[in-house]
Amino acid sequence: MTSAGGQQASADSLPTTVTVDLGARSYDIQIGDGLLNGAGKLIAPFLGPDRRAIIISDDTVAPLYADALVHSLQAEGAAASVVRVPVGEDSKSFARLEQVLEELIHAGVERGTPLIALGGGVVGDLTGFTASTLLRGVPFIQVPTTLLAQVDSSVGGKTGINSRHGKNLIGAFYQPQIVIADTETLKTLSARHLRAGYAEVVKYGLIDDAGFFGWLEDNGAAVVAGDPEALQYTIATCCRAKARIVSVDEREHGKRALLNLGHTFAHAFEAEAGYGEALLHGEAVAIGMVLAFQLSAKLDLCATSDVERIQAHLIQTGLPTSAADLPDIRFDAPRLIEHMRHDKKVEDGWPKFILARGIGESFVAGDASAVVAEEVLRDFLRTG
Ligand code: NAD
Ligand code: GLY
Repeated sequence: MTSAGGQQASADSLPTTVTVDLGARSYDIQIGDGLLNGAGKLIAPFLGPDRRAIIISDDTVAPLYADALVHSLQAEGAAASVVRVPVGEDSKSFARLEQVLEELIHAGVERGTPLIALGGGVVGDLTGFTASTLLRGVPFIQVPTTLLAQVDSSVGGKTGINSRHGKNLIGAFYQPQIVIADTETLKTLSARHLRAGYAEVVKYGLIDDAGFFGWLEDNGAAVVAGDPEALQYTIATCCRAKARIVSVDEREHGKRALLNLGHTFAHAFEAEAGYGEALLHGEAVAIGMVLAFQLSAKLDLCATSDVERIQAHLIQTGLPTSAADLPDIRFDAPRLIEHMRHDKKVEDGWPKFILARGIGESFVAGDASAVVAEEVLRDFLRTG
């Protein structure tokens, strides 16, 4: 397998380390096959005087992987216990946050006791926010087990829960001490969730790395088929890209907004579909990226051949790209526009779109017109 830069991508199973450079708060992302069994050694430097860690996981992931993590911590002389939360987006709620916080306080957690998020983006977001508020902040460690979490949500310190008014409206920037991405855990992830995470992978190529997008056109099928070598190279490339962006704009005053490519549209579809299994976040992002490029083409910023190329690749890797791929819900352009107006990224009542001058040439647009965005949505919904 050849990397996007032309070098031979590593064929061995040595872990890759990517550093997020944030001065005194810098941390490493370790990516590799089978890291979970040795995770205790990686976590040991972050244990407090009580030599104890609490793992937070969900009802699917805990039975699969919590024992391995507990044993690897015990091998380092640390005690570990597991707090389980129900699977799904509903765990990012005030009610669940309160229950977890009270349980941790009851268990006598100390300022130095790390919370370890073992799971996908839901567990990562909930655990990170819990860690940021518990005793005014306890150490936080990410052990992501979905592709989406390994390439995106476990890196960069965005944590939070949902409000009844919308997703991720309550939260904090709170960086982990280390991220341990064991690619072997992806073997038990459903093919649908793996593909949904792959949408976020494609995003990095579209933002600023046309070479990586070209590599994905050649190797994306291997990635979604779970090829370990292709996965490790992909995850490392995405983490490097995210680390570069977060290092220069941790709090999203500028460049970090590029990571929201396609998300303004995606969030509107997710809001209509109810943030669940009907339309997964990554699936909505795939649709949203197509729309962002269609909007860019409509504004004569990029060529329609770019839109076609992106659609072809998303179709090749099993992701939705058209209205016909959407769940059987009546989506309506004005309602979607209304959701966009309430997106948390709104300034002066209208979101800042991420547009593109081509593949790998995305930028934060000042003022994409609501009228044109609505036209693009209408066309998209009409053409099926
Ligand atoms: P998720 O956490 O709900 O996980 C998806 C499903 O896969 C769940 O049913 C889970 O139990 C299961 N699962 C996880 N790992 C598994 C494994 N290894 N084997 C078998 N099953 C496994 O969903 P997700 O897609 O990982 O994350 C979505 C969440 O991430 C959303 O809440 C979204 O808002 C958030 N997010 C956050 C950021 C950020 O920067 N913080 C970025 C993107 C998305
Ligand atoms: N997932 C977008 C971000 O971390 O900024």
